[in-house]
Amino acid sequence: MEPFRFHLFVCTQQKPEGVPSCAASGSFAVLGALDREIQAHSVNNRGLNNNVQLTTCGCMGLCDEGPVMVVYPAGVWYRRVQPSDVSEIVSTHLRDGKPVDRLIWNDAAAMKAMAVEHGEKYREAMAAREKAGVLPDRLDQMIRGYMPSRCLLTALELDIFTAVGDGANAEQIGKKIHANARAAGMLLNALVSLGLLSKSGDNYQNTPESARFFVQGSKDNHRNGLLHTANIWHRWSTLTDAVRSGTRVPTSRDDNPEWTRNFIAGMQRHAKDRAPLLVKAIGTAGIRRILDLGGGSGAYSIAFAKASPNVRCEILDIPEVVPLTNEYVSQAGVSAQVSLRAGDMLQDDFGSGYDLIMLNAICHMFSEEQNRDIFRRAHQALAPNGRLVVQDFILNEDKTAPQHAALFSLNMHVSTEEGASYSEPEYNDWMKAAGLTEVCRINLPGPSSLIVGLVK
Ligand SMILES: C[S@@+](CC[C@H](N)C(=O)[O-])C[C@H]1O[C@@H](n2cnc3c(N)ncnc32)[C@H](O)[C@@H]1O
Ligand code: FES
Repeated sequence: MEPFRFHLFVCTQQKPEGVPSCAASGSFAVLGALDREIQAHSVNNRGLNNNVQLTTCGCMGLCDEGPVMVVYPAGVWYRRVQPSDVSEIVSTHLRDGKPVDRLIWNDAAAMKAMAVEHGEKYREAMAAREKAGVLPDRLDQMIRGYMPSRCLLTALELDIFTAVGDGANAEQIGKKIHANARAAGMLLNALVSLGLLSKSGDNYQNTPESARFFVQGSKDNHRNGLLHTANIWHRWSTLTDAVRSGTRVPTSRDDNPEWTRNFIAGMQRHAKDRAPLLVKAIGTAGIRRILDLGGGSGAYSIAFAKASPNVRCEILDIPEVVPLTNEYVSQAGVSAQVSLRAGDMLQDDFGSGYDLIMLNAICHMFSEEQNRDIFRRAHQALAPNGRLVVQDFILNEDKTAPQHAALFSLNMHVSTEEGASYSEPEYNDWMKAAGLTEVCRINLPGPSSLIVGLVK
């Protein structure tokens, strides 16, 4: 059975640096070009009409001839495919049914011999490494994973992508960012190796991606929010001491005056995308008054206010944050529906009569006892049929998965006194102990989920 007229397999296998592979010969660029070209032919009704399935695959044993791809059902093998070949493959082979002769590899005996030899060499190499006790690549990559991350974070801290602008050499960039030209040159070269810049002669250029996401003035610039991750990196470097001591330990960087602004920008980066998902999951029926505890950038209140003119939201956040919240709320044009209160959710009275109380990305900052107390007071502040909604990275019962939630627990350990990621049974237990009923979990697309409880 063939559900598609053609099924393409493109090898995107990556191998250690220096070892030939389709990824190293540019198969991801080929894959992207194929995807765009096939889409264009399907959407514009130029003959493919969703009759082609494009799939990535692992090594086929012909790595010296990469990028390699196979077109089924006929089993046509192409080698050394380049993005510039893609338009011809799509129009000639996939649309008109005539394979592109100049790219076909049809020497079956040679292909089989190469794949068999490759398989034997691979097994021999693995056996030799195993015998010699070589550290597996997966562990080696995990150990050194901080290097690319640190390069990019430093580039963001120094605002290198903005300094590169429309193109500049290391000396010019070093001057703009007040850095040593030789060291800046090494960082710039490393960024080229990571695919974040390109280089021609002495001149560095932003890639389209870097220009879009990391340059000041670009509509999609994420730099301000990402600087929060750069700040958190310094806290992560205290992990060893924080595990020994049982709580966060101070660093010399803790007094960064930009910390709060970057933090709220970092929160907003995620919240503005997730807020419409939460509004859709909860709905606005029967909701007139919302309390948004630790609302931060106000993204969730803003989304509810925009979804219904009848909704009034109150955001409670700490005094340092409320002026920043005000900036986001004013900019969104919903100040008439969203009011702000400076305070401390651990101490202050919540008020009463709310239809919805939100705890978005809040519970992980606090201890179990503090959360139990917040849930209890939220229950008292809700009107009949009111709901308490928690959004967080929720762990499984034994707290080992999902991975992002397990890692995030440490993020909170290095950043707060008693914070952590919590499990679904823990949230259920706190909800029920506070008097909430019909407790349920709603999974949103993406890493965080909701736990919702009702006041009967
Ligand atoms: C992780 S952020 C989440 C922000 C927002 N809910 C979101 O999801 O984007 C935590 C928020 O809680 C606020 N916060 C922390 N401790 C607080 C407290 N004791 N009382 C009120 N707000 C607090 C922080 O200032 C911050 O805005
Ligand atoms: S890496 Fe693609 S065939 Fe080996």
